[in-house]
Amino acid sequence: MKEIRFDGKVVVVTGASRGIGKMLVERFSDAGAKVVFCARRGDVLKGIEADLRARGREALAVTADTGRFEDCKRLIEAAVKAYGTVDILVNSAGVSGVQKPVWELQPDELDEVMKVNVQGPYACTHFAAPHMIRQKSGAIVNIGSFTGKRPMPFRTPYATSKMALIGLTRTVALELAPYKVRCNCISPGPVEGERVEEVVANASKASNRTADDVRKGFLGLSPMNEMVTEEEICDMTFFLCSDHGRHMTGQDINMTAGIVMY
Ligand SMILES: NC(=O)c1ccc[n+]([C@@H]2O[C@H](COP(=O)([O-])OP(=O)(O)OC[C@H]3O[C@@H](n4cnc5c(N)ncnc54)[C@H](OP(=O)(O)O)[C@@H]3O)[C@@H](O)[C@H]2O)c1
Repeated sequence: MKEIRFDGKVVVVTGASRGIGKMLVERFSDAGAKVVFCARRGDVLKGIEADLRARGREALAVTADTGRFEDCKRLIEAAVKAYGTVDILVNSAGVSGVQKPVWELQPDELDEVMKVNVQGPYACTHFAAPHMIRQKSGAIVNIGSFTGKRPMPFRTPYATSKMALIGLTRTVALELAPYKVRCNCISPGPVEGERVEEVVANASKASNRTADDVRKGFLGLSPMNEMVTEEEICDMTFFLCSDHGRHMTGQDINMTAGIVMY
């Protein structure tokens, strides 16, 4: 397969102060894109922006909470003001939420996760879609999770939100298909990195098991006994946003080392 380039494309990535979103920003920038990215920690984002600009790249950091509708509007407007349009939107911002039995959950604990994991991607799509429709091209990728399809105890808010994201993906894909705009979801299994260690610590507390036991349990979900990597999620995002994926829309791609097979 040829090297995938995005020269001159305007790419918006949410949740970019660390993890998958941060790597996506770096990879898209390396591939020639103009990158616009957000997270809540503005100081971290500004550092990433400064680093990219020092290398002569076009980069814009926007401090925004994607759980807030107005912030999503401001993010997309900033991209359009700076670079004229939005060609690619990757909704990577996500929170794990509390881990508790369903009978102990408080209503606002579900709301908080739904706001960031579902309303955020919906709002960014809502504001970006008219630009993609106008130019009759565009690609949207939502980062879901295996947890939406393979239940785990104590994770009601997270699982509910990630399953809902697939519904959003498919409906948006249908509505935008006539305009040659595509929308797909990637559902990763546990990804090596900072976040999974936090999830392990929370699960250990919620289930009274040692962190080591929980980590082994996560690994054991995979018949390959492996976690996936941020690089792989970026590679799949590149594929879906490029011409290689031009006939892929409404899909949910499991990247789970075999945990989920449907
Ligand atoms: N890591 C895994 O094991 C795993 C597995 C399956 C699915 N996923 C999904 O993959 C996506 C990326 O995960 P990751 O591993 O990169 O997680 P991460 O390392 O925790 O990074 C999450 C990013 O999202 C940002 N963020 C969180 N809430 C936000 C909000 N309200 N508004 C704007 N930005 C927000 C965070 O920055 P700030 O704190 O600065 O806002 C951070 O930059 C998430 O949707 C996650 O659910 C991850």
